[in-house]
Amino acid sequence: MLGPYKQHYNNFKQSPEQFWLEQAKRLPWYKKPEHAYIQDNDGLYHWFDGGQLNSSFLALDQHVIAGFGEQTALIYDSPVTNTKQTYSYLQLQQQVAKFAGVMQSLGVTKGDRVVIYMPMIPQAVIGMLACARLGAIHSVVFGGFAAHELAVRIDDAKPKLVLSASCGVEVDSIIEYKPLLDNALDLATHKVDHCVIYQREQAIAPLTPTRDINWDNAMQSAKEVAPVAVNASDPLYILYTSGTTGTPKGVVRENGGHAVAMHYSMETVYGMQPGDVFWAASDIGWVVGHSYIVYAPLMYRCTTILFEGKPVRTPDANAFWRVVEEYKVNALFSAPTAFRAIKKEDPNAEGFKQYNTSSLKRLFLAGERLDPPTYNWLKEKTNLPILDHWWQTETGWAIACNPVGIEELATKPGSSTVPTPGFDVQILNMHGEQCAPNEQGAVVIKLPLPPGCMPTIWQNTPRFKTGYLTEYPGYYLSGDGGYIDDDGYLFIMGRTDDVINVAGHRLSTGEMEEIVAAHPAVAECAVFGVTDNLKGQLPMAMIVLKNDFTGSPTDVEQELVQTVRSQIGAIACLKTIVSVERLPKTRSGKILRKNLRQLVDGDELQIPSTIDDAGIFEEINQQITQR
Ligand code: COA
Ligand code: AMP
Repeated sequence: MLGPYKQHYNNFKQSPEQFWLEQAKRLPWYKKPEHAYIQDNDGLYHWFDGGQLNSSFLALDQHVIAGFGEQTALIYDSPVTNTKQTYSYLQLQQQVAKFAGVMQSLGVTKGDRVVIYMPMIPQAVIGMLACARLGAIHSVVFGGFAAHELAVRIDDAKPKLVLSASCGVEVDSIIEYKPLLDNALDLATHKVDHCVIYQREQAIAPLTPTRDINWDNAMQSAKEVAPVAVNASDPLYILYTSGTTGTPKGVVRENGGHAVAMHYSMETVYGMQPGDVFWAASDIGWVVGHSYIVYAPLMYRCTTILFEGKPVRTPDANAFWRVVEEYKVNALFSAPTAFRAIKKEDPNAEGFKQYNTSSLKRLFLAGERLDPPTYNWLKEKTNLPILDHWWQTETGWAIACNPVGIEELATKPGSSTVPTPGFDVQILNMHGEQCAPNEQGAVVIKLPLPPGCMPTIWQNTPRFKTGYLTEYPGYYLSGDGGYIDDDGYLFIMGRTDDVINVAGHRLSTGEMEEIVAAHPAVAECAVFGVTDNLKGQLPMAMIVLKNDFTGSPTDVEQELVQTVRSQIGAIACLKTIVSVERLPKTRSGKILRKNLRQLVDGDELQIPSTIDDAGIFEEINQQITQR
């Protein structure tokens, strides 16, 4: 007899169309979809095409209409500014409808892009939902990115409008956003019509007449706007993520599939009920924030928490447990690195004992591999179910999880449990053949991807196809390697490309390499991720200086640290740069980055046969040790 999960999964496998149309029926569409998915002339899949809905109506209006206007929709808790604020569904709906009015009066209509470069404040959520209300496409840029990164995204998305704030507040510093924004707008070729700036008292920004508009002033005279019906396949947002090159990829999310997936996941992946309190301790600049701070909890009528703080130092390692007690949080979702930071400061989890955390049913982790020591520590100290789940910006929701809403399966340390219904996950070897159980290979998903996943890259379908669909025809290439064990449990072992994960932030070593290589003293370089006990991974660069360079290598190294910081942002954390005599390469000239990582991590070196001079690793090792 099959267990409930297997039965459910089989239902999906037998008829994905029927399975998802049933899920879609549970949402209040303006016009119900008649078919599950179509393939367009480019071969791209779009879910529920022809159906009409509005994501802001789903997140807000439907609950107000159903009589839940007084229920708390959003709690803003900001230890860095000492602020706490609560919005009911009705209050949030009114703010969103009014801000949609502000944008409409500035000429924003369906299909226009709006870039949002904001810290973790309610206005950021209001801006996102107001775009959805108008059918405009938002593109949120994480506040930790520097001007150059913002400019690259502005040039790709070509927004009509930018929403921003005067500043962000970090643990012990105020980050003024306005100079970064102004710099980005100067760097960008695309010109925006207007910027709406939310002034925060921690740093009031000078506004540029004719271009910049004060958020609060504009709201005073704004008229509320009703939600606009959009097609299911109209984009809701673009979210840029790091690939292997210096140009980020604009992941497109469509309204219809996204809404169905968000609703389904709240129940299946997180085991929530409407009215529960859900907390994703992440940032709205990342996919976790889009899906699980903003859209999914609100569409499912949960209370969501917007936390402007860190797991530690705001003010201490008890912050998470304090918030859980204060708002009676039922499910907490964060990245393993956040708990490693707490564990470092409070190894015995005294904070967890001090606070009343009895409302908390489960802890969810994602964003990077949940290493068994962190899993075991959390399990032992909290005695809660510790649920790892694996996903990506591209998918927008969990590809593998413990499907607690259907059946709470036993967990295994190091495994993100089983494929989520909707995802046909397989492991293929380099010849495209299925791997045996426990054999490692490329983790792929059989097409079509389920609702909610990216249909393509913004304005770049060729890149989408070459990056994700070409290597294994008929499958989506996740970029992760891993295996499935005898019980059908999935183990994700890490990226197979040049993407690294630093404190749950996805970064491209390829992009850092482009910046390092542009330094006039650098002949060639390699940037790769090395293991870090707190942040999971940290980037490290090895550089070879030009023969005619006569200056100090240390000066170059320090300059490069600063350049990467100012071009990508402080979150890049490239602090270790080492000059070496030469870099190891294959006969065809490919730099052996993987071997360099193994060398620095002290792992066994798996040197390919295509290298003539294996002694180079000993030489580099000596150069590193001498430092
Ligand atoms: N705006 C501006 N700067 C930011 C920023 C933001 N939103 N977020 C981070 N930074 C800056 C930090 O201030 C820091 O700058 P510094 O070098 O001048 O000190 C730098 O970027 C590195 O930040 P971070 O990687 O966050 O390191 P940290 O030491 O400040 O904090 C952790 C370490 C583990 C506490 C923190 O990374 C964390 O909370 N991680 C969880 C991540 C997460 O939730 N990821 C989302 C996926 S679920
Ligand atoms: P992002 O797009 O920023 O969410 O990063 C996605 C990448 O993070 C994945 O491709 C994985 O490499 C990694 N990742 C996310 N969640 C997990 C997890 N639960 N286990 C292992 N790796 C993960």
